Amino acid sequence: MQHVDPSETHSRRRFLHQAASSIGLVLAAPVITSIIAACETDETTGPTGKQYTVQISDHPELAVIGGITSIVVGDLNNKNPVFVSRVAVEAFAVFSTTCTHQGCQVALPEPPTFVNCHCPCHGAEYSPEDGSVRQQPFGGTATDLPRFSSTYNSSTTILTING
Ligand code: FES
Repeated sequence: MQHVDPSETHSRRRFLHQAASSIGLVLAAPVITSIIAACETDETTGPTGKQYTVQISDHPELAVIGGITSIVVGDLNNKNPVFVSRVAVEAFAVFSTTCTHQGCQVALPEPPTFVNCHCPCHGAEYSPEDGSVRQQPFGGTATDLPRFSSTYNSSTTILTING
């Protein structure tokens, strides 16, 4: 019969416990990293932490789904206008009017010529629903217009925008 030293058993148990803990950390690391990355790249979260309000009932063009306007909302978007687009009965998309190509101000859709928000400088076009690029500018590249998250209170018709 083989004699096993109790202190050796204790050490072996401790080693196995530490190894299992390390493996757990290694397996959890990608999950933790992706959670941190998701938080850092959430473009709908305002970088300033400020909140701004818009009285939607003051803008009749936003009374119907698909309605869109551009308005200055305090110092949001570096005091440049933002597009406010009604995407559902109780949901709005808010995104910058500053073209991501070279910084010109993007204009509202002007059907029938422009069904998209369009930049007069080099022809970039953006979705009026979310500011995503629909047509790249002549000789250049644009990315989606930055968005601002918002919440809508249908009782007060106030849209709160996170700047
Ligand atoms: S600045 Fe808008 S397309 Fe060039």
